[in-house]
Amino acid sequence: MEFQELLHRRQSCRAYDLNRPVEREKLLYCLEAARLSPSACNSQPYHLTACTGELVRQVAPLVQGEGHNGFAIQVPCFVVISEAPYNSSAAMHARLTGRDYRSMDIGIAAAHLTLAAADQGLGSCLLGWFDEEKLRTLLGLEGEVRLVMALGYARPGDPLRKKVRPSLRQLADLMEDD
Ligand SMILES: Cc1cc2nc3c(=O)[nH]c(=O)nc-3n(C[C@H](O)[C@H](O)[C@H](O)COP(=O)(O)O)c2cc1C
Repeated sequence: MEFQELLHRRQSCRAYDLNRPVEREKLLYCLEAARLSPSACNSQPYHLTACTGELVRQVAPLVQGEGHNGFAIQVPCFVVISEAPYNSSAAMHARLTGRDYRSMDIGIAAAHLTLAAADQGLGSCLLGWFDEEKLRTLLGLEGEVRLVMALGYARPGDPLRKKVRPSLRQLADLMEDD
């Protein structure tokens, strides 16, 4: 898909076709896109856990609660992003600068995941609402869970929404020499 089209087609999907599983090769395509994402000191301090099949039924309630993410019940696949240790140079840089590179790296990987999903004709939604402890226990993860991505085919008829964003003028400055 052409890049501009991809940027507009990627949207948070909250209506999935539960009867249409995500093909293994499409899931691998998304994971590979995350693998290729940049990270501080090339550290990639995260782990991706792709949940399909029966496991999905156990994950779904753990990303819902207090009225959030009710749609998770129809999601056919989740990719859980948890922390992994920095490599030694990223650890040193993070210590010296006091910056949380891991959050940045995870955000970039998540962006790659969602764009790759859209490129494959899949819907996705990043979920920041989840029960961290239960999810970690369920999946036997060592690192803290930082983000979950819902993945699947959008239910037929789910409309493409217009993007609501601050204007470029509000969001960015072009600082040019004249
Ligand atoms: C870190 C993060 C956490 C999010 N958590 C949720 C969530 O728990 N539930 C949800 O429905 N959407 C969630 N979203 C999706 C945002 O609401 C969505 O990206 C934003 O409104 C822009 O809409 P769009 O993705 O359709 O362009 C999250 C997005 C990000 C980046």
